[in-house]
Amino acid sequence: MIGVFDSGHGGLTILRALTERLPDRDFLYFGDHANAPYGDRTPAEVIALTRDAVAALFARGCRLVLLACNTAAAVALRTLQQDWLPMHAPDHRILGVLVPTVEGVTGEPWRMEDRTQTPREQATRRLIVFATRRTVASNAYPEEIHKRAPEINVIQHACTGLVQLIEAGASRAVLREAVRGHVSTLMSELNGHEPDAVMLGCTHYPLVADMFVDALPQGIEVVSQPDLVAASLSDYLRRRPDIDVPRKRGKVSFLTSGDAEEITPLASTFFGRDAAFQKI
Ligand code: DGL
Repeated sequence: MIGVFDSGHGGLTILRALTERLPDRDFLYFGDHANAPYGDRTPAEVIALTRDAVAALFARGCRLVLLACNTAAAVALRTLQQDWLPMHAPDHRILGVLVPTVEGVTGEPWRMEDRTQTPREQATRRLIVFATRRTVASNAYPEEIHKRAPEINVIQHACTGLVQLIEAGASRAVLREAVRGHVSTLMSELNGHEPDAVMLGCTHYPLVADMFVDALPQGIEVVSQPDLVAASLSDYLRRRPDIDVPRKRGKVSFLTSGDAEEITPLASTFFGRDAAFQKI
């Protein structure tokens, strides 16, 4: 069984891609709805909450936990992997969503285009990352991208308040307005220089991906983080067959620190099928 963690609903976008890609695997999802959003918390708080969530998933039989939360992955992953895991669960593993995403956006297709100097080569120069305030402040995306592709101009924009609206089940009209506001602020900062690709660096944002696409100028590629993460996890599991033995059941269970009854209807909409949460 593979553990999947997010501060709330956002990780469901990743879980959905994982269950499609790995239908034989069992997954246990934990949304820390009681403490969401993480995006405005201090790094120490994000680390402590993420550590407790991972420990809870380990205690329930997951040997591998995926932090399906950019904020947790950007702020807590390295600390947990280096300082906590070796002491507390050396035979367990924690992975994040950041590196697979960065590998995806800086990977073979873009590099090949660099070599062939096609018009598309120009189109990969300016990358926008929309994320939470904490992920932006961590600078993790520009750092990881520049390690692999220093030529890419990464521009970050914090969509403050958007996660709160999604978690609260705001109407499509309210969400659309909020997304439009963030995109237009960014576009005016860009001074007419259109981005070439956009990455939604928060797992909540794919829930409103269509609104980003509508608000952005036409023809800009919006990178799909869930697909990149699912492909990367599938590859990891192929290389580490010991870490999770598929039981060929495809069982998916849902835990929350919040109010399970309140969360279940909205979460099921986001997940695209029944997501019956239980309180942890
Ligand atoms: N969905 C998470 C992320 O990817 C966390 C958002 C939040 O809790 O602020 O960043």
